[in-house]
Amino acid sequence: MERSTVRELLADSEIGSTITLAGWVRTRRDSKEFSFLEINDGSCLSNIQVVADAGIESYSEHVLKASTGSAVKVIGELIESPGKGQRVEVKATDVELIGAAPSDYPMQKKRHSNEFLRTIAHLRPRTNTYGAVFRVRHAAAMAIHRFFDERNFVYLHSPIITTSDCEGAGEMFRVSTFDPLNPPRVDGKSGGAIDYAEDFFGAEASLTVSGQLEAEIFALALGNVYTFGPTFRAENSNTPRHLAEFWMIEPEMAFYDLNDNMKLGEEFIKYIIKYVLEKCPEDMAFFDRWIEKGIIDSLQSVAEANFEHMTYTDAIAVLEKSGKDFEFPVHWGMDIQTEHERFLTEEHVGRPVYVTNYPKDIKAFYMRVDEGEKTVSAMDLLVPRLGEIIGGSQREEREDVLRRRIKECGLEEEIYWWYLDLRRFGTAAHAGFGLGFERMVMYLTGMSNIRDVVPFPRTPGNAMF
Ligand code: 4AD
Ligand code: MG
Repeated sequence: MERSTVRELLADSEIGSTITLAGWVRTRRDSKEFSFLEINDGSCLSNIQVVADAGIESYSEHVLKASTGSAVKVIGELIESPGKGQRVEVKATDVELIGAAPSDYPMQKKRHSNEFLRTIAHLRPRTNTYGAVFRVRHAAAMAIHRFFDERNFVYLHSPIITTSDCEGAGEMFRVSTFDPLNPPRVDGKSGGAIDYAEDFFGAEASLTVSGQLEAEIFALALGNVYTFGPTFRAENSNTPRHLAEFWMIEPEMAFYDLNDNMKLGEEFIKYIIKYVLEKCPEDMAFFDRWIEKGIIDSLQSVAEANFEHMTYTDAIAVLEKSGKDFEFPVHWGMDIQTEHERFLTEEHVGRPVYVTNYPKDIKAFYMRVDEGEKTVSAMDLLVPRLGEIIGGSQREEREDVLRRRIKECGLEEEIYWWYLDLRRFGTAAHAGFGLGFERMVMYLTGMSNIRDVVPFPRTPGNAMF
């Protein structure tokens, strides 16, 4: 069907022209002589108003049956709108009811809770909020590719199935074609160790938690690369910030140290913010009005101000002096929890802050060990409303130190033979980070639950749709 989108019609289509549009009825009002249909086609937040004269041929069979949720096609003339708020409306000459929606359509004109809408995730994209979320999500994805392309980074498709645990945290979903009730055993007896050598990949395989290790391989060949793909974590955390399946962007740069890494991360976040504010003004105004008051101003100021930096050790001192009654008590060596992160970024600094040089015992094996051997060259970027949005580090490029760290972390050296090879053959300083894409979309939109910025959330106990 050749049609104009509502976005095109509202923006710049010529008044007086004959147009075809198609979309879903949000509401219909009937008077004696006319019906007024509010049509949305997802191309933008706004609906377009269609006025259907009771005299048109399709009136009783089509217009009067086009209830909320129905799909319709409208042919008509674009006229100047006498009402305020919109430039134009459509005077219909023909309305075709393409697909009716009976009265049990669950999204009648009233506000529904996000919790309820999650149970109908196949219909929620037709609401204002979710339409706006997913248009912004798209714009953010485009911003990310543009940012790296402008800087000549190579987009790397890292594997989704892997036999190495990047974060070494044992939070991986197994990938196997074994009969779960009767897998082959090493010693042939039931109850013995499972013989993964017999499995599809000839080894124990999982869904990846991160594309970083593979990105390091390519950074040490192509210079600057990035991944942007799905990652999976079997961590049993039911929080508004964790998904079992989320998308991550992981740039990896050769000849970068931790400072270079943080500088790139800051430019990156600011670029995404500016791009989305420019490309999605209508959707952002919606979030500012209904979801998070003042979000546009606050994002704009983030895009202008410098990010703060502090070491983990200084952060602990600040938290200890804060006088706050935290749920998790503060001491050097602990993992910084969301409550601490939010205090640091919201109350102490009041804007995004990098926390650096964490104790090595709470970080992954691949991070570069600092002088003094107590900390590693790690960085987390904390932002108001969320806490951690980026996690990254300079990588350990010294073969002997890396070997030692793999052992200390209780990992098997043999699995990482190729990772160690990178340190044997032409090793070089390099660094990178991971941005959680859904956390970024939360940050941009003000949505407070990560389940509401991903099309179909996967969380403990839930993988519907
Ligand atoms: O801090 P993380 O675990 O770091 C890595 O995976 C590194 N390999 C990244 C790198 O250096 N290349 O994860 C990075 C980011 C976090 O800061 C967070 O934004 C997001 O990924 N993230 C999650 N987002 C949603 N649900 C989860 N379960 C997440 N776990 C991490
Ligand atoms: Mg992290």
